Amino acid sequence: MSLTFEFQPNAAPLATGERDALLADPGFGRVFTDHMAVVRYTEGQGWHSARIQAREPIATDPASSVLHYAQEIFEGLKAYRQPDGGVALFRPDANARRLRQSAKRMAMPELPEEVFIDSVRALVRTDRDWVPSIPNGALYLRPFVFASEVFLGVKPSSEYIYAVIASAVGSYWKGGVKAISLWASQSYTRAAPGGTGAAKCGGNYAASLIALAEAGRQGCEQVVFLDAVERRWVEELGGMNIFFVFADGTLRTPPLGGTILAGITRDSLIRLARDQGLTVEEAPYGIDQWQEDAKSGRLVEAFACGTAAVVTPIGRVKGEGFDVTIGTGGTGQLTESLRRQLTDIQFGRAPDPHGWMMRV
Ligand code: PLP
Ligand code: COI
Repeated sequence: MSLTFEFQPNAAPLATGERDALLADPGFGRVFTDHMAVVRYTEGQGWHSARIQAREPIATDPASSVLHYAQEIFEGLKAYRQPDGGVALFRPDANARRLRQSAKRMAMPELPEEVFIDSVRALVRTDRDWVPSIPNGALYLRPFVFASEVFLGVKPSSEYIYAVIASAVGSYWKGGVKAISLWASQSYTRAAPGGTGAAKCGGNYAASLIALAEAGRQGCEQVVFLDAVERRWVEELGGMNIFFVFADGTLRTPPLGGTILAGITRDSLIRLARDQGLTVEEAPYGIDQWQEDAKSGRLVEAFACGTAAVVTPIGRVKGEGFDVTIGTGGTGQLTESLRRQLTDIQFGRAPDPHGWMMRV
């Protein structure tokens, strides 16, 4: 199914000079483009009223169901400036599929993948001058769907708004990428079996914030969540998947058991590692084993990964009664090599053997 996006240009786009000043050092998630994509859903009618329009506030009734019951899902992907000046998206088809899976879990209508791709491409084409050219800069796209029916009964909404906004970004981390420290929370979990851990819904992030604050009090940059049943098995961070690299050259990442997000960066790194003959196990890893392996030197590197964070080294993990350094505490060799391989494909500096890039 496809829709035609009506184009209603922003009558007052930001002046070129002001835009270029913002693009020189955008940080993460604060610099937004001139336009957004919007599509509406009404039960009985389906998806309709697709348009690219000026980025502006969306009027919501105070009884809109999203404000009360949090029926909301989102995605995150990036558009990258290519060496010839063009722009390309990384695996937008995978984000389109994941949005549908999140919708299923949250009892929401599934947006057709073609509409997702068309909306993202149309927005990036319209705001292509906002794609940064600074090293490691990109246009971060945030597609999202929320329940907009005006009704206070608890049931799936009969109306939804799908929108895509775009934000020019540099590094997710203030001051650029350096090894981060993690707090392994025993007090809080992110997702339980049968819950919404595998869906990209706002509620998962709301629930993670108190643990992130706890990590901050413990002097750590991020929280690493353990499973909700045994409080033992490493799951993921609040917004990133996690990998471990061992002295024998093998990698391990927690399996997709329904409580963690199926990261597209995770999947891409598994493929890149296997392409070069490395063994990647998708297997549980205990926090007890992690401490032992870090101390014995069997564990040599660890890294977090995601669209926003790309590949971020993990230098240290702390929890109740322990605080251990991983490897040198800095960026490991394989971590750096995988980050480089992935970003070389994304920025068009290396061939794209898996057909991951899509020109807009
Ligand atoms: N895990 C969580 C909870 C996330 O929010 C994200 C970010 O999107 C990821 C993992 C990484 O997913 P991806 O690589 O698709 O961005
Ligand atoms: C992303 O990486 O796209 C996310 O949604 C995670 C968040 C930390 C920004």
